[in-house]
Amino acid sequence: MKKTLLTAAIMSMAFSSTVFAHGVCDTTLHGYMENIKDEMRAMSSDVKAGDSESAVGHVEALISYFEKSRSEAPHKFSHDNLQGAELKAQTAEYQKVVDDTITILKELEGALKAGDSAKVRDLFGAIGEQRNLGHRSFKDC
Ligand code: HEM
Repeated sequence: MKKTLLTAAIMSMAFSSTVFAHGVCDTTLHGYMENIKDEMRAMSSDVKAGDSESAVGHVEALISYFEKSRSEAPHKFSHDNLQGAELKAQTAEYQKVVDDTITILKELEGALKAGDSAKVRDLFGAIGEQRNLGHRSFKDC
């Protein structure tokens, strides 16, 4: 009995909200981000294999996952208990980073269709920068 209580106490400490907040978060946005990761991988292997047509399909899927992500709030906003004007300002900043990412993806679609591989490479770099910016600013799990 004593042992069971000790185990329960350890388990509850290990999964307490502070520990969990910086672990994996089970949000809708997290799910879209996993889809985005998979689509990015598939798209870049198509580009390496020279299959632009298939790559364009993955870029279109990426655009739609970012459009869905735009109406979700990062976990950080509720964890930091953002409200009122602060929540409004942070939401606008988040949506701006998403919108800029969508603009870059649309340019990438054009560059793939035009067979402009130098531009495709540059735009890959720009997407990586958006990911770093988005994660640095809004990701806490
Ligand atoms: C192609 C670019 C991107 C990829 C491949 C990507 C991938 C991921 C992955 C795999 C996760 C899950 C956690 C992890 O493993 O680190 C994640 C989480 C997250 N990403 Fe991205 N991401 C990208 C761009 C962005 C952008 C542009 C933003 C913001 C505008 C963003 C915001 C977030 C946030 C806020 C989370 C945490 C989930 C939450 O708060 O609910 N990501 N991302």
